[in-house]
Amino acid sequence: MATSDKPKPVNAVPADILPIIRNSGALAEKQFLEVRARVLAGDYPSESRSLARCLVVDGVLTEYQAKRILNGKAHGLLVGKYVILDRLGSGSMGRVYKAHHQLMGRVVALKIISPEIATNDRVVARFRREMRLVGRLDHPNVVRAFDADQSHGILYIVMEYVSGQSLGQRLKKGPLPAVEAVAYAAQAALGLAHAHEQGIVHRDVKPSNLLVTENRQVKVLDLGLGVLMENDGEANFATADGVAVGTVDYMSPEQACGKEVDGRSDLFSLGCALYHLITGRQAFPGDSPIERLGHRIANRPTPITDHRPDLPANLVHVIDKLLATKPQDRYQTAGEAAEALQALLRPRKATAPAAKLAAPEPPPSPAAAPPPSPVVVTVRPTYPGWFRPMAALAERSPRRALAALILGVGVAIAVGAAIGWTIHA
Ligand SMILES: Nc1ncnc2c1ncn2[C@@H]1O[C@H](COP(=O)(O)OP(=O)(O)OP(=O)(O)O)[C@@H](O)[C@H]1O
Ligand SMILES: [Mg+2]
Repeated sequence: MATSDKPKPVNAVPADILPIIRNSGALAEKQFLEVRARVLAGDYPSESRSLARCLVVDGVLTEYQAKRILNGKAHGLLVGKYVILDRLGSGSMGRVYKAHHQLMGRVVALKIISPEIATNDRVVARFRREMRLVGRLDHPNVVRAFDADQSHGILYIVMEYVSGQSLGQRLKKGPLPAVEAVAYAAQAALGLAHAHEQGIVHRDVKPSNLLVTENRQVKVLDLGLGVLMENDGEANFATADGVAVGTVDYMSPEQACGKEVDGRSDLFSLGCALYHLITGRQAFPGDSPIERLGHRIANRPTPITDHRPDLPANLVHVIDKLLATKPQDRYQTAGEAAEALQALLRPRKATAPAAKLAAPEPPPSPAAAPPPSPVVVTVRPTYPGWFRPMAALAERSPRRALAALILGVGVAIAVGAAIGWTIHA
């Protein structure tokens, strides 16, 4: 039988998961003793799957923990003082977990750095130096780092847990409205300005490193981790000293050349990210990472107006400036870039093109309708019966009506005079 035909081994569920739960460190000792007592008392089932289900329903274990325990892979649920609750995802540098501090209960995000990186002493030393700087960062637009440590050879970083989604995840649903993308980029620029002031260059600004909270606050993720990136072929690019920094599609030309970078390199990356968010396309397309790298070093980006001819000129100008090939032609600080991005969001009084971006794009206006024709209301007074013939005559021929009135009055006077004269006589 060929190797590929062999049936996959099915993990047998351990007969008794209580010792596994205890060794996993997922529960504090007191909590574990309570669970065991309830199993012994018959409150909880002793069969492994049923027990795991009950513990999840009661909130004692998370789904993720129960799955790991049932698969006999409970080791690693405790990293340092942090209990792993769930897996958030993985990237080029390692895996990210939701975790909580064993004693303090604070929920955090824990990034476990891949062992291949963690065993490179030189890289780890650079990482530790960088983390000392990152620990000082405190800004609403930066994901805070609380701790970075090595436990049993596992290198990890503990961060503020941000519930929400990354702009990389958001992009999977398609491009964003320009006004929304600009608002996010402005916030990211403010976070970067804070990091740059502390001497930290991100080196890996990209949509997946920009987290957006439920109330639309952007938080820059992975600050200080640029120093960890190793060359992994497709996604990254190795610099001269063998340490890769940045992801190809958002990388600045100077970074792609392996030169020293400063904060202006992050602004180029932010420009690439903004371009991608608005168009759903890369500013420097190409079939291979090498082609895309060469493109940004030698050429200008595909004009954004090729994809979105409707964009206002001042937005195009800001993106072009972020994407300038030479750092000296870009905004010189992230604060300046933030200001330029925020200015795009302010409504203008004049009918300048910027006004188009500030207001959410209105639905197409209907063709101008003709002014409404005046409504003529005819009011017909009601006359006593004896006057109606006269009124009808007045409506048809006012002159004749007047003549008839004069004649009538004259006749009445003459008749009155004749009667009076007859009586008198
Ligand atoms: N502090 C955090 N709070 C909440 N979720 C996070 C946090 N940090 C990372 N994540 C999530 O974990 C997942 C993996 O993140 P990670 O940074 O490892 O991947 P990436 O950004 O795609 O790749 P890279 O390694 O190149 O940065 C992503 O979905 C990310 O949104
Ligand atoms: Mg990341």
